[in-house]
Amino acid sequence: MTVQTLSLLLSFAAILALTAIFLRVRLRAGAAKDYAPVQRRAYRFRAILFWGMVLVGLPATVWLLRITPYAAAPTGAQVVNATGAQWFWDLDRTDVAMGEPVEFNVTSTDVNHGFGIYDETGRLVAQVQAMPGYVNHLTHTFDTPGTYQILCLEYCGLAHHDMMTEITVTAAGGTNG
Ligand code: CUA
Repeated sequence: MTVQTLSLLLSFAAILALTAIFLRVRLRAGAAKDYAPVQRRAYRFRAILFWGMVLVGLPATVWLLRITPYAAAPTGAQVVNATGAQWFWDLDRTDVAMGEPVEFNVTSTDVNHGFGIYDETGRLVAQVQAMPGYVNHLTHTFDTPGTYQILCLEYCGLAHHDMMTEITVTAAGGTNG
């Protein structure tokens, strides 16, 4: 089972548990209760939750951060520096090889743009925000050769729809086309 599948199953379990709690509260909401004992129990429960979070949640968070994939720097990546502006993309290279990671360093000179990479069937394969004053890093490994379109994914003004360019992915060992 992948980490993603496990996360999904755990999320569903948590959603079910929360739903059950809300239903129980709703069904018992009519009964009148003496306030003090309820409050004592709630405070005890709160303390248990707090220490549970400290003793279980904190180590789990640290452990999971260790395997977070997002920050993993690819080794020997092909680097493409991309700058968005109203209304065009400026790429310092438009040919990359498939099967090897490509690191896109994406920024903008004016407003926020969206750097969206689409394959030949029009499927979005990767995207990142292009923001003025920041360089966002997107790493993607293309597994199919072809011409990929880069379209702006963030409405950025009059000619937003016209803000597109292309990148060519060549088969490993093949000639550039
Ligand atoms: Cu740039 Cu929309």
